[in-house]
Amino acid sequence: MTTRTRILTGITTTGTPHLGNYAGAIRPAILASQDANADSFYFLADYHALIKCDDPQRIQRSRMEIAATWLAGGLDVNRVTFYRQSDIPEIPELTWLLTCVAAKGLLNRAHAYKASVDKNLETGEDPDAGITMGLYSYPVLMAADILMFNAHKVPVGRDQIQHVEMARDIGQRFNHLFGNGKEFFTMPEALIEESVATLPGLDGRKMSKSYDNTIPLFTSAKDMKDAISRIVTDSRAPGEAKDPDNSHLFTLFQAFATKAQEEEFRAELLQGLGWGEAKSRLFQLLDGQLGEARERYHQLMSRPADMEDLLLIGAKKARAVAAPFLAELREAVGLRSFVNQAAAPVAAKKKAAKAARFVSFREDDGSFRFRLLSADGEQLLLSRNFADGKAAGAVTKQLQSGQTLDIRTEKYGFNVWLDGECVAESSAIYADAAQRDAGIDTLRVALTPTED
Ligand code: TRP
Repeated sequence: MTTRTRILTGITTTGTPHLGNYAGAIRPAILASQDANADSFYFLADYHALIKCDDPQRIQRSRMEIAATWLAGGLDVNRVTFYRQSDIPEIPELTWLLTCVAAKGLLNRAHAYKASVDKNLETGEDPDAGITMGLYSYPVLMAADILMFNAHKVPVGRDQIQHVEMARDIGQRFNHLFGNGKEFFTMPEALIEESVATLPGLDGRKMSKSYDNTIPLFTSAKDMKDAISRIVTDSRAPGEAKDPDNSHLFTLFQAFATKAQEEEFRAELLQGLGWGEAKSRLFQLLDGQLGEARERYHQLMSRPADMEDLLLIGAKKARAVAAPFLAELREAVGLRSFVNQAAAPVAAKKKAAKAARFVSFREDDGSFRFRLLSADGEQLLLSRNFADGKAAGAVTKQLQSGQTLDIRTEKYGFNVWLDGECVAESSAIYADAAQRDAGIDTLRVALTPTED
């Protein structure tokens, strides 16, 4: 049974990543994804980008640049699920289901929306001047991103903590209204990386596009060198001792250096290394670390069809999780097929329910397990091992009680959960998602109690 932590984060596709984005978000996320216990979902939040930007050219360029940056930075798409939000139609669909349970009062409190209202009030405008429903509903779309994949951890900047809390709030409400005791949605937690560097920009303030003080990441070596030459330093001349701890040039160096390199640089500054020379050391360090990735970046950008392919594969992986889950959610809110619920199939349902049977057995190690067999002897479920027969019996009883089943898909198989514990799994690994879902349907029918 996998117990990997699902880590999910979105990158809003406006703008071109700079060195600060790289050190603060991209590099740590790529590193985190290499952990064997991490099941990472990283995506381009391009629906979110539309909220902030109505320039199609810019949206398109940014999506490509950000995809290329993450791939060039070493993101392994075989390991993580890397996709564009806009390739997952289940996301806007879930957004609507969540919109229908999200309290308006909750969204009124969102910082981003409130800031816009406050600004309008300050300038004597109508409070809602220039505010779109996109901005207002931003947190619901983000909740759908997170809840769709039952993420455990959501690495974000501090400004996004509130949104993750809103996702919990909305998810909880949905669970409560439609879950029948079952938790459809996992409660996500915001993950704030305290140790991660917020890089200073050229002028020493936080590196940010809005301060126009950024160092470009992959555009070209020359651009990087030019930006570095504009880093503000004090006016100490070559030969005069510099104060590394009050130099943001040193802070930038630190963020990319080994301990040894850092100490060497510190000593040199204390000994009077000139700022010009110091800047060229910084350039060499960065170029050494990022030069190869920069080349990969330009290769990727020159072959957009390859990136398109990779992202479509990512979308397929993501949809293999999203589609069956959304089908369950639609079912839960009452958007059900007329056919499956209509009078006619009841007979078939009864028959299946009558005929399906639990068969328990003992393993060599003395533990107890059971199978659920369908009318024609097909194995529908295989339980996990229980220490005693009583515990196994209690589970079979609960499964037959008619409560909504907590079925979680896992690639082309599925698991059945009770009270926060996985109690059984599909015995087959199905050939594809459709067959797996058919298997789930059969199981549901088999476990639906008859009325008599
Ligand atoms: N709103 C996030 C930001 O601006 C981006 C984002 C969209 C996101 N959907 C998400 C982050 C889901 C984490 C999880 O940074």
